[in-house]
Amino acid sequence: MNHILRSQQFDRHALEALFAATDELGRQYDTPEGKSKLRTVCEGKLLFALFYEASSRTRFSFCAAAHHLGMASVQTENAREFSSAAKGETLEDTIRCFCQFDPDVIVLRHHETGGADRAAAVVDSCGYRVPIINAGDGRGQHPTQGLLDLYTIRRECGRIDDLTVVVGGDLANGRTARSLAYLLAKYSGIKLIFLSPKNLGMGEDILAHLEKYAVPFKETEDLDEALADADVLYWTRVQTERGSVNYTLDLTLRRAELARMKSKAVILHPLPRVDEIAKEVDADKRAAYFRQVRNGMLIRMTLLKQLCAA
Ligand code: CP
Repeated sequence: MNHILRSQQFDRHALEALFAATDELGRQYDTPEGKSKLRTVCEGKLLFALFYEASSRTRFSFCAAAHHLGMASVQTENAREFSSAAKGETLEDTIRCFCQFDPDVIVLRHHETGGADRAAAVVDSCGYRVPIINAGDGRGQHPTQGLLDLYTIRRECGRIDDLTVVVGGDLANGRTARSLAYLLAKYSGIKLIFLSPKNLGMGEDILAHLEKYAVPFKETEDLDEALADADVLYWTRVQTERGSVNYTLDLTLRRAELARMKSKAVILHPLPRVDEIAKEVDADKRAAYFRQVRNGMLIRMTLLKQLCAA
């Protein structure tokens, strides 16, 4: 099955093809005729968005993407409360039951690392033909966020190779940073700088992966040096819902920090932000995080289109 479970499953060729298709879809979407034609692409198809954890962007962008392709969507927020999980139903039973309703795609956000793998295993073992899209699994991964982040880097910088990317914040618990690191490792001339308090450093599994593929990286707590080096600054929040606490570093980006960055640097954030990017940064042309959200819908439209055609 064409499940989307982790970013490592995309090779560079697949990424380039996805990004070219998204460019093309975006051009089409930007014309009234094209937009109306896109509304017929997935007509009669059905998407389930099953979210056990809170979400604004991922859930709504998948449902908006489905709408713009003419695909129906059925969704639940907080499935731990609003699905029969509240009565004790297992994820496996829920997925098995949902497959009886013939969805064409299930988008799943789960609070446990490996939740999407468990759902995909049920689909595969029961012989259903329903792709599972991992929309975030605990501290694991968020592959479509990684794809939209990488696509945004490509659009904003005009390339992905030969960039210094500073990934900052709660890297121990931030699944988006993990998915992006795997994707960046596929490109050449990439240098990664992980900026975080020591207690929130990037996972050993990611560091081992980078070492295996000879991707240069360093871990630091030196904000000034990291900002000066960055072509791309990927900022993330402290994940208090996973018990994270930042004891040591002030990781707030304000106008003063921007003054230390390259004039053509790009600032990304998966959002939601809390207070790690001051609102005064939003007006800076290097702040690309709202454009990033728009790119996310286009990437998800392209993925849905491809999955429905498969
Ligand atoms: N970036 C992201 O996953 O946002 P949500 O949690 O709002 O979906």
